[in-house]
Amino acid sequence: MAEFTLPKNSVPTEGKTFQAPIHAQNIRRFEIYRWDPDTGENPRIDVFELDIDDCGPMILDAILKIKNDIDSSLTFRRSCREGVCGSCAMNINGKNTLACTKAIDAYPDTIKIYPLPHMQVVKDLVPDMTHFYEQYTSIKPWLETSTPAPAGSERLQSKEDRAKLDGLYECVLCACCSTSCPSYWWNSDRYLGPAVLLQAYRWLVDSRDENTAARLDALDDSFKLYRCHTIMNCTDTCPKGLNPAQAIAETKKLLVQRKLG
Ligand code: SF4
Ligand code: SF4
Ligand code: FES
Repeated sequence: MAEFTLPKNSVPTEGKTFQAPIHAQNIRRFEIYRWDPDTGENPRIDVFELDIDDCGPMILDAILKIKNDIDSSLTFRRSCREGVCGSCAMNINGKNTLACTKAIDAYPDTIKIYPLPHMQVVKDLVPDMTHFYEQYTSIKPWLETSTPAPAGSERLQSKEDRAKLDGLYECVLCACCSTSCPSYWWNSDRYLGPAVLLQAYRWLVDSRDENTAARLDALDDSFKLYRCHTIMNCTDTCPKGLNPAQAIAETKKLLVQRKLG
């Protein structure tokens, strides 16, 4: 059986422990991945004990409390704290999710927090999203038309056509799905991954878009699309309850239908 090990300089070492205040009654332990490219040191796992009675209810609240009160160097992304910006995506107790939408109480015992897996780390919990955004740009995530817009009106949709975007437009591009997908781990250089493919499908089924044929041509590629092997990690992990695996299957179906004429 194949065995995979981390390169020596990626193996996390034991870090610092920050104990809870002496009078704390309700203590939770957070183990957090830390890595600072400027030190040249291996990543480490720091332990923070928090008094949960003195902290907001969500995981993001805990991380903010650590940054504000204990270690200001802890680095992570966040913006909306409402599950809409997608920036606080991280791996919490083994599952990719949005830290602002997960309650501390939903986790038993120690809470382990790592950056999204299989991405280059910029620092601590911040992954490098450059390649992911380049892939997103490659599917042309905007309305493409060749006919002039109706005079004095927007390009309208029927209620039925608008409903086809449900389950797609809600995607916040957090990358939780793509970074949980084994096919994306091994082939992210060429496989677009579930997040970008869900977005591609969103434009394929938009009744106002007039570039469907070229969009399908661009996806009809053994790596870009067909590296999906329906493992379903993507759908299982999506914090917005979306189903990228289904969007990928529907895209494959559109390509088959087109071939059959
Ligand atoms: S269903 Fe496809 S995209 Fe989703 S995790 Fe599996 S291989 Fe990846
Ligand atoms: S499909 Fe879900 S997990 Fe994937 S990027 Fe969109 S919101 Fe995030
Ligand atoms: S901070 Fe915006 S999704 Fe969590």
